Amino acid sequence: MPRLTARERRDRYQREYAFQKRHGKSFFPHAVFHDTIVSLIVVGIIMGMSVLWWAQFEPVPMEPGVERAGGILGPAYEGRADPGVEAYDPKPEWYFFFLFELLRIFKTPELLLVGSVIIPTIWMVLLIGWPFIDRNPDRRLSRRPIALAVGVCVPIVLLTLTFYGSKAPGAGGAASDAPGAAAFAGGACSTCHTFADAGTAGNVGPNLTEGAVNYETAYDLIANGKGGMPAFSGTYSEDEMKCLAGYVATHSGAPAGEEGPEAATAAEVYPAACETAGGLFAGGGAAAAGD
Ligand code: HEC
Repeated sequence: MPRLTARERRDRYQREYAFQKRHGKSFFPHAVFHDTIVSLIVVGIIMGMSVLWWAQFEPVPMEPGVERAGGILGPAYEGRADPGVEAYDPKPEWYFFFLFELLRIFKTPELLLVGSVIIPTIWMVLLIGWPFIDRNPDRRLSRRPIALAVGVCVPIVLLTLTFYGSKAPGAGGAASDAPGAAAFAGGACSTCHTFADAGTAGNVGPNLTEGAVNYETAYDLIANGKGGMPAFSGTYSEDEMKCLAGYVATHSGAPAGEEGPEAATAAEVYPAACETAGGLFAGGGAAAAGD
């Protein structure tokens, strides 16, 4: 299409405007009628969904800590928040998973500001400033390679972050309720080790989700320490160390909730040791160690 001069464009617009004025539909009543019908349909759908939900929910008792139950559309309400729960596992709503993942990428204290403030701020400024930055008058995509590249890359990055954020363990507490998990997550171990089953994300020691550790090795390391790993024989009782070693051996080298290849090496002591250890774990493991 040949370039039009400003004057030609204006004339053309005015012709089009006059034409629409004569032959087009007026805002009132046409568009108003249209909008009213669509709004009524949307409200009707919402009302229908509420009625469906009302017909299917199972009430959940108000006691704290009660499992969330209910039909496919969710329960009527959830159990009351319990301030006594130590192993709460905070996770954002799904539409914040990308931010959550950003925080996980920049998790060292020096970089914390980058993930939590700097990148989101740059992003917002870019978003607001975009109309002023991109002054390219062309509409055709082939003439707008930069806009096209940004338009493709941003959703890919957001979706990738969202995907990984959705699979990440929560920000704290135990992901699993296996015996020993809360002791691992609530105690010293969590600060140094990433372990999916316990929902921890330390990175001083080896990643226990990736490498399977047998019971003997785990017990020896916990009791006597090695290199950067402190000895815990003064902190934990023998049963507590057996419980932790058994928990590590059973769940290391596997995704959360699954048993790893070394599980059998702990079968004799685990979870019996956790039972004997009772609720005396130092460092917040009391609740899950006993039950
Ligand atoms: C101060 C950081 C720190 C703490 C706290 C800590 N570890 Fe470790 N852990 C390490 C380091 C470093 C290693 C690697 C030791 C080596 O092989 O030199 C390690 C190794 C291990 C291994 C062997 C991993 C492998 O792949 O060989 C196990 C199992 C383990 N730790 C379990 C625990 C448990 C259970 C606790 C809590 C009672 C704990 N750790 C607390 C730093 C820590």
